[in-house]
Amino acid sequence: MKSYGLFINGEWKVTKESITVMNPANDVVVGKVSFGTGDDAKAAVDAAAAAYPEWSSKTAFERSVHLKSWYEAIENEKVQLAKTLTLEQGKPLKEAIGEIDYANSFILWYAEEAKRIYGDIVPPLQKDKRIFVRKQPVGVVAAITPWNFPAAMITRKVGPALAAGCTVVIKPSEFTPLTAYYLAELAEKAGMPKGVINIVTGNPSEIGETWLSDHRVRKITFTGSTKVGKYLMNKSADTVKKVSLELGGHAPYIVLNDADIDHAVDSIIKAKFRNGGQTCVCPNRIYVQSGIVDEFTGRFEKAAASLVVGNGLEDGVDIGPLINDSAVEKVLNHIKDATDKGATLIGDIPSKSENGRFIKPVILKNVTDEMLCMNEETFGPVAPITTFETVEEVITRANDSNYGLAAYIFTTKIDQAFRLSEALEFGIVGVNDPLPSVVQAPFGGMKESGLGREGGYQGIEEFLETQYISFKL
Ligand code: SIN
Repeated sequence: MKSYGLFINGEWKVTKESITVMNPANDVVVGKVSFGTGDDAKAAVDAAAAAYPEWSSKTAFERSVHLKSWYEAIENEKVQLAKTLTLEQGKPLKEAIGEIDYANSFILWYAEEAKRIYGDIVPPLQKDKRIFVRKQPVGVVAAITPWNFPAAMITRKVGPALAAGCTVVIKPSEFTPLTAYYLAELAEKAGMPKGVINIVTGNPSEIGETWLSDHRVRKITFTGSTKVGKYLMNKSADTVKKVSLELGGHAPYIVLNDADIDHAVDSIIKAKFRNGGQTCVCPNRIYVQSGIVDEFTGRFEKAAASLVVGNGLEDGVDIGPLINDSAVEKVLNHIKDATDKGATLIGDIPSKSENGRFIKPVILKNVTDEMLCMNEETFGPVAPITTFETVEEVITRANDSNYGLAAYIFTTKIDQAFRLSEALEFGIVGVNDPLPSVVQAPFGGMKESGLGREGGYQGIEEFLETQYISFKL
């Protein structure tokens, strides 16, 4: 069983109170972490602020060496880290290993990207002037991260932040803090200077309030619900912090009559049931053109029925448990709402009492736009299918949402692919691609799905300020 104190200024501070971490598959206690107060949250900022001058004045090459050492340390303990992740989060071990690879790719990428923070020389108006534009780190960054990707959502923020020259304070989810502290332990082993990375767990609102009101925290970067994102954005106004938000999604998955149906089915299995449907980019509304809806649905049913639901540490498991009981309630509520309003459920209605947090894939047919599952993120393995006739119709219906994170299109016609992708108001569009998230691309949403981008060269910009220097000769 893993047990961690708070990680502040390179020291492990064990508090009297603690948070018990449970395996969502069986409620077995898998670890314990300290429960910090507002004072601890402030101490973390003190440490990050004290470490900032030295860290930010290192050369990009020096910061890159530190990041690469951290990357190596993670690589060396990849499987143990993945097991910890599965124990506290539930996802199948093979997916957890995939997440660690994904997480670590952000550290390696930004170790390189640190060296490519360029400025500009701007032609002046007068002969005796010179104008230089340079980038500098924003300062201390507060990262607030979710439970669905306990490793990747930390490194996707901390990798570029450290590369830019920022120091960080992190609050991971209380459901999955062990992976976060394990990452910090590996950073410490890899020789990361004290105070550059700090982690505090405890009462989320007390920690959040402390960081929001602290002038020294110059940037908040958050992944989580739209509701909390709006709150953080509002509160950041008091000290005019920079804000990056990666919020909810409600991804349309559009299959046109001319699609390669086998590929569209294989892809919906990958995209929909990844992490048991608990990702912001999971397809949440499946629009199939009327000419192929029966064939698509029949093949999808067969493929979904073969998925194995169980404890993520067991061999051959494809879908783990949902994170907690309220996640199960939400899923059951979406299914009930849909069936009450006339949707047809393929298979049996999952029952919480029989299955605990294990929910088998659920396919809903004859879904209409009024149903809850077509208007809110389900965050579970529920696949609602509706039909459409024309491309214009599906564009209108897909865009009729306040969310704008990811969308998917399946077609073999290149003109359709371009027309649709350009018309969709979503930050990420997968054309015949169920898994578009990669380190080198700018992940992020439009509308209420968020602000800013993570990944790619754009990801480091979020942690930089622009300054210009005007010289009179
Ligand atoms: C998320 O669900 O927030 C992240 C998913 C991804 O990176 O693909």
